Amino acid sequence: MDGRRTALVTGATSGLGRAAAGVLAATGGWQVLVGARDHHRGAEVAAGLGPPAHVVALDLASLDDVRAAAARVAARGRLDALVLNAGVQLPRADRASADGYELTFAVNHLAHFLLTVELLPHLAPGARVVVVSSGTHWGTWRRSGPFPAPRWADPRELARPRRESGQRAYATSKLANVLFGAELARRHPEVDVAVFDPGLVPGTGLHRGYPAPARAVYTVLAPLLARLPFASGVEQAAAGLAAAVTDPPGTSGRYLERGVETPSSPESRDPARARELWEASLELTRP
Ligand SMILES: NC(=O)c1ccc[n+]([C@@H]2O[C@H](COP(=O)([O-])OP(=O)(O)OC[C@H]3O[C@@H](n4cnc5c(N)ncnc54)[C@H](OP(=O)(O)O)[C@@H]3O)[C@@H](O)[C@H]2O)c1
Repeated sequence: MDGRRTALVTGATSGLGRAAAGVLAATGGWQVLVGARDHHRGAEVAAGLGPPAHVVALDLASLDDVRAAAARVAARGRLDALVLNAGVQLPRADRASADGYELTFAVNHLAHFLLTVELLPHLAPGARVVVVSSGTHWGTWRRSGPFPAPRWADPRELARPRRESGQRAYATSKLANVLFGAELARRHPEVDVAVFDPGLVPGTGLHRGYPAPARAVYTVLAPLLARLPFASGVEQAAAGLAAAVTDPPGTSGRYLERGVETPSSPESRDPARARELWEASLELTRP
């Protein structure tokens, strides 16, 4: 080894993850493992970062794929940071993952939960785990604007495809991200957990699952949205995400709103709910 630390970044082929992988690689102190569902695109990103970046084929819509990817990452050796960044936002909550789970909850929460559990024995002491969440987990006008509020339920219900707005399912999955980060910090004091909220970041690929007309409207609005006080450009948000990986350790489980440590929503700080989510996620991800 050349003394560099190693970080696995999920969803490193686009938007925030791709840009943050670039920031980490550019420090010269990090080897980035580019988590990618499309191996070809992942290889392109890794090539752009230069050696010693590598692509890790990882489709978060399949728990078997997550297990296989975790085994390959573990075989490479110790991991110093795990950046759980990949995410989807869909128009409706009626699509299923390979395991039959609602796709947003499956990709944004369950797959990242399983990836973390599988990799915990292979994390260096004090390793950083960064969970990328969103201000939409608040469900208040101030933090989420007109975005639908999360609607929490038994996690086994949240894992069921259903007739619900995809945006609401997204906000709920981002609430799950915060609860998961807090519970991971409680159960595993050997790692240092940060939950990162980038604010609104127009111009990423997050809306690729929407019909073409909706995407066209969003593309027109993106430059205006970027001027809102709670919005950031992709590069700025990625710098914040990279800092969440490289900054000195802090209180594990902290919530970083655009890099500033602040309390997450009251709903996300319910330890009983976090425990229930952990237990149910173990059950739902069991082979
Ligand atoms: N943009 C915002 O305003 C905003 C605000 C708050 C939080 N966030 C969060 O920021 C994170 C990054 O999102 P982004 O805005 O940068 O969006 P993005 O450009 O769409 O990036 C999402 C990444 O996730 C990957 N991904 C999606 N489904 C996957 C799957 N099944 N398996 C593996 N990877 C998968 C995508 O891969 P492909 O490249 O193959 O599609 C892409 O690399 C997400 O967690 C999102 O919730 C974004």
